[in-house]
Amino acid sequence: MRIAPARRLRGSISLPGDKSISHRAALIAALANGDSHLTNFSTSSDCASTLHCLAQLGIRIERSGNDVRIEGVGVGRLSAPRDSLDCGNSGSTMRMLAGVLAGHGFSATLTGDESLRARPMRRIVEPLEKMGARVNCETGYPPLRITGHQPLSAIRYELPVASAQLKSCLLLAGLHANGRTEVIEKFGGTRDHTERMLRWFGVKVETVASSRIGAELSSCSIEGPASFSGSDVVIPGDFSSAAFLIAAAALLPGSELEIEGLGLNPTRRQLLAVLRAMGVEIETLEESEVCNELQGNLRIRGMEIRNALALKSDEPAMADNPNPFAPLIIEGSSTAALIDELPLVAVMGTQISGGVVIRDARELRLKETDRIAATVANLRAMGAEVEEYADGLKTNGPVRLHGANVDAYGDHRIAMAFTVAALIAEGESELTGSQCVAVSFPEFFECLESMVER
Ligand code: S3P
Repeated sequence: MRIAPARRLRGSISLPGDKSISHRAALIAALANGDSHLTNFSTSSDCASTLHCLAQLGIRIERSGNDVRIEGVGVGRLSAPRDSLDCGNSGSTMRMLAGVLAGHGFSATLTGDESLRARPMRRIVEPLEKMGARVNCETGYPPLRITGHQPLSAIRYELPVASAQLKSCLLLAGLHANGRTEVIEKFGGTRDHTERMLRWFGVKVETVASSRIGAELSSCSIEGPASFSGSDVVIPGDFSSAAFLIAAAALLPGSELEIEGLGLNPTRRQLLAVLRAMGVEIETLEESEVCNELQGNLRIRGMEIRNALALKSDEPAMADNPNPFAPLIIEGSSTAALIDELPLVAVMGTQISGGVVIRDARELRLKETDRIAATVANLRAMGAEVEEYADGLKTNGPVRLHGANVDAYGDHRIAMAFTVAALIAEGESELTGSQCVAVSFPEFFECLESMVER
C-alpha cells in the first residue's frame, strides 16, 4: 500500500467494539445460563476466531453485523469439538479459551496461524496443570492439547509475567474450580476487563488493590464452581484502534478529531497521559459507565509538539519540564499499561526533543511479531536514529521522518503505527502487508481516508 503524507485529519467517528472486551463478552456469555445479546461486537478477525471456536464447542451463535446473540449452556457444559480449534492469529482466544477448556471433561486441541504457533504458551500450561488439567505442549508453543478435569482445584498463583491474557485464563478456569482461585499481579495491574465482565454477569470477583497487600502487588479472586445467567452487553469503541487515529490527529497541526462512545477504561487509556505530557489538548466528555466499563467522547486537536513532560499518570501534566532535551521515559507499570501502543509511542517519540526511551518491554518481542525489532527496522528506514535494547528501544527526536518502504511484519499494530508514521513523513511510503490490520481494525484505512486532508 502506498501512503502519501497528510496535512491534517478532520472528522467525527465512532469505532467498532473493543477487541479485548468482545472476546470476554463472548466467552463468558457461552458459560452463562441462557441468552446474551452483545451489541457493537468487535469486527476484528481475532474476535471472529473466538466465535468460531465457541461454535465448534456446541454454542449457538447468531450474528447480524455487529450484533451477536449467544445461547449460553452453563459453566462446564461445552461439548467436545470434532476438529481442532483454530484460533487464527489470536493469542487472547487461545490463552483464555484454554482456561475454559481446562474445566471440561474432554480433550481438545488449540492451534493457530504461523505467528500464533510461535507464541509462548508455557505461561498457561504450568498453572492449568496445577489446577488439575493436562496440557500437552512439549515445545512450549501451539498446538496445545488440553484434557480438562472436572472439577479443577483452586489455586493461589502469582503471575510471572504482566499478562492480562494469563490472568483471564486463570479466572475463567477458576469458574470451574472448587473453592477460591486467587491471581496475584506484581506489575501494577494489567487490563481488568475480565473482572469487570464477570461482575456484569453477576459473578463475585474480589479485587485487592496494591496498597493493601504491599507495594506494586494487587490480586483478584473468584469462587468456584460458579453459575450465572445470560446478560446483555453493550461494548464500547476500541481504544487501542482509536489510538492510531488519535496519534495521527495529535501529530498533524490543525487536525480536529472527535470519537464518540470510546472505551476509556483506566487500564487502557494511558496513551492520553503520554499525549498530555507532550502538551496535546485532549478533552474527554460525557464519561459514563456502561456495562461496568467507562466510556465517553474524546476530542483532540493537533498542534506543534516539541518536548514532553515526565509521564506521571492519566492526568493533565502540570509542571514545566526542567530539561527540554530529556527523553520521555516509559518503564515499569507504564510499559504494561501501554503494551499495545508501544510501537506507536516509539513513532510519536521521534517527534519530540530528546526522543523516547522504552524499557521493561521484553513482552513486546513475544507479540504477533517481535515488535521491538519491527519498530526499530521501520523507524531506521524512515530516517530516525534508534538504539535497540533487549527490553526496549531509544529513539532520537525531533526528527523529520522521510517516506520509505516499511513492513508490517504480519502484525496489525505495526501496520497501523507505520501508517501514522507515513502520514507525518516527508514523501510517500510503501507499506508491505497492510491487509493484516483486519486482525483488530478492518476499517482502519477506510476510516483514515475519510478524515485525511492532503
Ligand atoms: C490482551 C492482553 C495483552 C495485549 C493483547 C490483548 C487481552 O496481551 O497485548 O493485545 O485482551 O487480555 P498479554 O496478556 O500477552 O500482555
